[in-house]
Amino acid sequence: MIVPIRKMGDPCLLVRSSEVAAGDFNQTELLQLIQDLRDTQHHLGGVGIAAPQIGVNKRVVLIEYYQRDTTRYANVGDCPLRVIINPEIEFLTDEHAVFNEGCLSLPGLRGKVSRPAGIAYKYYDQFGELHSGEDFGFFARVMQHECDHLDGILYPFRMQDLRSLAFIDAETSDAAS
Ligand code: NI
Repeated sequence: MIVPIRKMGDPCLLVRSSEVAAGDFNQTELLQLIQDLRDTQHHLGGVGIAAPQIGVNKRVVLIEYYQRDTTRYANVGDCPLRVIINPEIEFLTDEHAVFNEGCLSLPGLRGKVSRPAGIAYKYYDQFGELHSGEDFGFFARVMQHECDHLDGILYPFRMQDLRSLAFIDAETSDAAS
């Protein structure tokens, strides 16, 4: 079911979300939440979505994108659907990368955010299976952005220079990097 997206200013987006309990994995309520997130993300065309963005303060994130679908980002590769529950992230490097981020909760806007370039991650899927890995590319960026939602952080809170916060249709071409 497509659910209305919560936008910046909504209290749901500003609080720490709670862990999914062990007994909730593979249960109807969690699986329905994941379906709602997926329907809503497909409807809006994002690369990732976090449960607080549809008003559910649980530590659940979906990430899914395909190079062929995106004209906004170059060289992102493919990321078939990942259901990410109770994630943990560690930074692998002091090196930072700057990227012009967007967010379904701030429609029409992008802003440059500096984040650590490489992460190690761990998370559970909807069946309670543990996944782990490392990434130094677009996935690391999306993962950090989405996991921030679980702690009540929106990307403008991470921006060092708010002058790059811009409406997409007002951007110059070099801002789309
Ligand atoms: Ni977002």
